[in-house]
Amino acid sequence: MKLIKTILSVVFLQGVQFFAFSEEISIETSNTLMLLERVEGDTLKFVYYGPRLDRIDQDRLLREKDPSIVLYGYPVFGTSDGAPYAMQMEHADGNQTLDLKVTGIDRRPDGSVDINMADRLFPVSVKLRYKPYEGSDVIESWVEVKNGEEGAVRLHRFDSSFLPIEQGDVWLSRLHGDWASEATLVEEPLRPGMLQIKTTDGARSSHYARPEVMISLDGKPCENKGRTIGAALEWSGNFSLRFDTESRRVHRFFAGVLAEPSGYVLDPDSVLVLPRVAYTYSRNGKGGVSRNFHSWAKTEGKVYRTDRPRDILLNSWEGVYLNIKEPVIEKMVNDWSALGGELFVLDDGWFGDKYPRNVDNSSLGDWRTDRRKLPHGIEGLIKTTQDKGMKFGLWIEPEFTNVRSKLYETHPDWVLRAGGRPLRYGRGGTQMILDMTNPEVRDFVVNLVDSLLSGHPEIAYLKWDCNTFLLNYGSSSLPADRQTNIYFDYHKGLTDALKRIRAKHPDVAIQNCGGGGGRYNYGLMPYFDEFWVSDNTDAWQRVFIQWGASMFYPPHVMGQHVSASPSHQTGRIIPMKFRFDVAMSGRLGMEMLPSAMTETERDFARKAIANYKEIRPLIQNGEQYRLLSPYGDSGMASMEYLSADGSEAILFAYKMKHYQNQVIPRFRLVALDPDAIYSVEELNIYPGVGRQVADGEKYSGRYLMENGLRLSMGSEYSSSLIRLKRL
Ligand code: GLA
Repeated sequence: MKLIKTILSVVFLQGVQFFAFSEEISIETSNTLMLLERVEGDTLKFVYYGPRLDRIDQDRLLREKDPSIVLYGYPVFGTSDGAPYAMQMEHADGNQTLDLKVTGIDRRPDGSVDINMADRLFPVSVKLRYKPYEGSDVIESWVEVKNGEEGAVRLHRFDSSFLPIEQGDVWLSRLHGDWASEATLVEEPLRPGMLQIKTTDGARSSHYARPEVMISLDGKPCENKGRTIGAALEWSGNFSLRFDTESRRVHRFFAGVLAEPSGYVLDPDSVLVLPRVAYTYSRNGKGGVSRNFHSWAKTEGKVYRTDRPRDILLNSWEGVYLNIKEPVIEKMVNDWSALGGELFVLDDGWFGDKYPRNVDNSSLGDWRTDRRKLPHGIEGLIKTTQDKGMKFGLWIEPEFTNVRSKLYETHPDWVLRAGGRPLRYGRGGTQMILDMTNPEVRDFVVNLVDSLLSGHPEIAYLKWDCNTFLLNYGSSSLPADRQTNIYFDYHKGLTDALKRIRAKHPDVAIQNCGGGGGRYNYGLMPYFDEFWVSDNTDAWQRVFIQWGASMFYPPHVMGQHVSASPSHQTGRIIPMKFRFDVAMSGRLGMEMLPSAMTETERDFARKAIANYKEIRPLIQNGEQYRLLSPYGDSGMASMEYLSADGSEAILFAYKMKHYQNQVIPRFRLVALDPDAIYSVEELNIYPGVGRQVADGEKYSGRYLMENGLRLSMGSEYSSSLIRLKRL
């Protein structure tokens, strides 16, 4: 039973005596505590976020609040006294202000807390919601707004959450990028002024910036030590993560949907549920925060069905691009099965009847097999794949169409368009986005996926892509005075469609792809089994991109494919072993013509795939420790995966820089049992490339952690994959 402290105090206001009370509001996980306080009866103050405290320390915190600064639990425009605010509302009568008082607090047995607030003058209410996830030390925080006025209100800013962070040597880790260089890590101290991380793409959250950050409270961020806060906004559209720092004591962190240029018009009697922000706190640095997010994703359904093993797949894209021909695909399927593959995925180019999809500028929306390319249809390929004991998967991009498509010819009103303005086009100079705010369009998307899956129940996997941003800002389905709701309602519509699809097809695996890694986020991942990390499959650059993604997402949901050399994206020539060693740290796949490999390469690939099947449970269920960062000065990158019972570990090591007289660091492991003895085995030995450790060699956990393994890492693109077993 939680002790809830209520302190009655006597307040004199304009000569009248009131009984006002303070009440602490705590949200707790196994190791963390978020503390707010209701003071003077109806005002909400933020007090603390950090490790759990005992009663005495908690009381001290409540007593010792700095009186020089007022930190409202959720500051709003009108009563924030000039300080930055999370919400600004324009009331039906034009009044621009809010003045919220606490009207009640609901606590649920699972530890969730709702703080109900209402405006003192207008019939609008704001509910602050907090949900703790005990085991993973995550606390979700979000807001629901209810309009009880007679007319619509306009939200000019509507952040989901506010968190003050005490100033000091505070650093920020964030991820920015572009197509083919997603999730690039940037680290910098937080300074006075405003820093806003945001996306304005409209359709995708995260090509250019990601909706997650880490905040290190003890100076320059470290992987395995230091007090660190992580925050992830669970939203697939435009977002804003804002640090507003004045000279006073705190950095103010606001997270939510980006309100510019798209405020939200909320109808009378309606409730707007804003996306959640997941916070976590760890004393074990960035790695601790990542492991909390990984555990939360896996145990709380924040990525779809993380309990089932991910199949090893061959995707047709980089092998044939749009040039799909039945005999070539059949050969790919056969060759893939000979390598030990489990799933074959037919990417873009298989559909379109009136207009063939030979170039990426037509046919989206016409989801019928192009029989000129596949005379025996999808059915034929499914049969070939199943005859080989494998599963079949298919690429779709259901929210889009092209000028040259039957869909657009039939339903020109289904695309977003800015009134009478000429349409602006995306990929291929003709791609347009369908209006997911329109219920008819949502039905079309749901029915299309449903009929594909119901018509071919053997389809085990879908790759759901999104290759163009939201270019034409206007919806014929929304009324004239609700046009600013597009950015929000689009994503609400998308999630509604996904929910309906999932209700009917719970077993199909679905990959989240956004022109590479443009759209993975915790708003969408509850419906997707995995995501495509990047269209850049150059293994060397992938080490950086995957490193960034792993900061917030568990590795086995990250699609990582071995592709051809020279790389189609960078032209880099990388040995097959390095390519496999990099891809095997997540969900392994391939993205090339197996027939283009030499016999030696194929033989190696077959063994590497067999090895992956053995280590897959550890990649999926183990804890990931990032060791040497590719961003650091060591010239290496390495990660360790450790099984829950500590009996097994895998070390991945990659050489990222190569020069004469280079000092090769030792690879020091972490979190092993110092007194236990471990034997090592090197996997993925490539013919002619020397071993880096002697198989069966024994080391104490202490030695491995203090001294580390000495690996030669001699040649350019050297890499090593070492399995450790506790004896
Ligand atoms: C996007 C995806 C690729 C591929 C192509 C197909 O770029 O990220 O993997 O599916 O579309 O057009």
